[in-house]
Amino acid sequence: MSVYFKRCLLVLFFGFTICLFIVLPNQRVNAEGTGESIVVSVEINIATEENHQPINTNEIVLSWKAVPPVSGGTISYDIEKSTDGGLTFVPKGNVTDLTWTDNNNSSGVPNYTNVIYRLSSVEGTTNSPFSRPINVFPPNINVHDNYMSNTNLCKTCHVTHNGETAELLNEPTASAVCLTCHQGLTNSKYDVIDGYTKTAGGITRSLGGAFANAGVAGDPWGGLSTTSAHSIDETTAVSAPGGLNASKPMGCTTCHSAHGTGNYRMIKNTILQPIAANTSIPININVVAGAKAIDQNAGETPVYISGIETLCQSCHSDYTASAGAGGSGLKVPTRSQFGTPGMYRHPVNIAPADKGLTTLLPLEGRGDNTDKMMCLTCHYAHGSTVKDTNISTVVAGDGAILVTKVSSNLKRLEGMKICQDCHKK
Ligand code: HEC
Ligand code: HEC
Ligand code: HEC
Ligand code: HEC
Ligand code: HEC
Ligand code: HEC
Repeated sequence: MSVYFKRCLLVLFFGFTICLFIVLPNQRVNAEGTGESIVVSVEINIATEENHQPINTNEIVLSWKAVPPVSGGTISYDIEKSTDGGLTFVPKGNVTDLTWTDNNNSSGVPNYTNVIYRLSSVEGTTNSPFSRPINVFPPNINVHDNYMSNTNLCKTCHVTHNGETAELLNEPTASAVCLTCHQGLTNSKYDVIDGYTKTAGGITRSLGGAFANAGVAGDPWGGLSTTSAHSIDETTAVSAPGGLNASKPMGCTTCHSAHGTGNYRMIKNTILQPIAANTSIPININVVAGAKAIDQNAGETPVYISGIETLCQSCHSDYTASAGAGGSGLKVPTRSQFGTPGMYRHPVNIAPADKGLTTLLPLEGRGDNTDKMMCLTCHYAHGSTVKDTNISTVVAGDGAILVTKVSSNLKRLEGMKICQDCHKK
């Protein structure tokens, strides 16, 4: 049961002072005083023959900072675990200690399988509404989050007195920092340039596609090199089709944070959308999803639950259309709200099953018939290797000028194969 309390807000409205009583859930403040999730640290004890653990039984040790009681009650902690990309969380117990170990030599967590834990405090019988996913990737330590007792991790990217940027980074750009680990499969299981994800048995395709796959015969992309990708060079100013037509350079940290955000893949909580030279507006992003990896040899499957559109729409605003509609829900294809010439666009946020359609492409939802199509149903987020030289697309340039471009447009399938997958004409 939640505890509620009343707050009084003084609002000045047409010269009157009105006192509003608003019922809000009791916000539990953690040790950091942020009113958010608990500060956690993760350790992975890799199973080896020396420590007499059967192979594939890595122990994951979570430890955390005590949460002070809000109203003098006893504090305990609920632990939950998901192995299906965050779709379902299984309760693993309630403890009063400040540490908990998965799995004490029983079944263990195999290498290259992804697990997500959730930790929340309970005061008496009142559960805190705050909990944040804790993403764990054995055998690697996730350098991006759960820093409590792993603070040495900061130095993988930052230096204190001799930084190369204002953020005290150890490389000249944020993207260069990212690529020290995410290119070449040495320091992470993800190589985003070739689009490879390492497994216990070899490499598979990465969920985001490939920014610049070299196209080596027999590679996971069938030896095809990248034909289109989001720009990540941090120097060339680019403008997003269907966006506000202002341009600015992109890099990894245009979409991702370097530190955990609570969003899927550390997607930023706020993206700055350029609206004019040197002017941007903040857009809030909330992406709930996961990367399921149960079989250590099979790689990952995306589990999109909600909010991918909040990300893509933050730059490509006009592409979020309903059936029979132009940009931004306009029924008439006049100039749409962000200044690109009005056009009809393929609808998103519709469940194909509702229209009697079936598809093998990924949808967003909880895995039932209400799952909807969204941008990543047809596109990769990073880049595509599909062969496609014949499709010209019309993209908005500076608001009025239309540009014809030949591109494979980050598509999941070549040509118009995507369409047939659903419409089966
Ligand atoms: C994986 C690399 C990486 C690690 C590990 C890392 N950072 Fe960062 N950090 C960055 C990057 C890149 C930026 C710049 C972000 C941007 O450009 O959006 C940044 C920005 C910052 C900033 C300034 C902006 C902000 O978010 O407040 C602070 C402060 C910071 N980091 C502190 C830390 C601390 C403390 C740790 C360790 C507990 C840490 N970082 C670990 C890469 C990293
Ligand atoms: C010191 C090495 C290192 C650096 C530098 C680094 N990463 Fe990572 N990154 C990792 C590791 C390790 C993981 C955990 C997955 C694995 O490899 O097993 C990871 C995971 C990720 C994930 C998936 C996280 C999740 O919760 O699903 C994203 C997204 C990511 N990194 C983006 C970035 C970005 C963006 C930068 C640059 C700001 C960056 N990384 C810099 C090592 C690094
Ligand atoms: C346009 C926004 C955007 C940019 C720019 C971007 N990413 Fe991503 N990234 C995403 C999204 C969205 C996903 C999730 C893709 C999915 O699951 O379909 C992702 C996934 C990832 C993953 C998980 C593995 C994978 O391929 O799915 C890593 C690691 C990662 N990004 C790192 C990076 C690095 C490093 C850069 C810069 C070189 C970068 N990203 C640039 C949006 C972006
Ligand atoms: C931070 C802004 C930003 C975000 C967020 C963003 N894009 Fe883009 N996108 C751009 C820009 C700028 C371009 C044009 C320049 C380029 O190709 O990088 C572009 C180009 C594209 C293209 C056309 C590529 C080509 O070959 O012409 C596609 C398709 C695309 N984006 C899809 C997406 C999808 C899907 C998402 C969500 C996962 C997304 N974008 C999120 C800025 C963004
Ligand atoms: C039904 C599949 C599908 C969905 C859903 C979809 N796209 Fe596309 N998109 C395509 C295809 C196919 C193209 C290539 C253009 C063509 O062949 O007509 C494309 C092209 C693009 C382009 C390049 C410029 C242009 O207009 O040709 C951008 C940008 C883009 N899509 C962004 C998005 C965003 C953002 C979303 C989500 C709001 C989205 N797309 C949803 C299939 C889709
Ligand atoms: C994931 C499934 C899926 C894919 C892939 C897909 N469509 Fe659709 N399409 C739909 C759904 C659902 C509707 C909405 C139908 C309705 O409202 O009755 C739709 C509507 C349409 C419409 C009617 C336009 C409107 O606004 O109602 C056209 C034309 C169309 N699609 C063509 C295409 C083309 C061309 C492609 C390939 C670029 C494509 N579709 C890919 C599911 C899909």
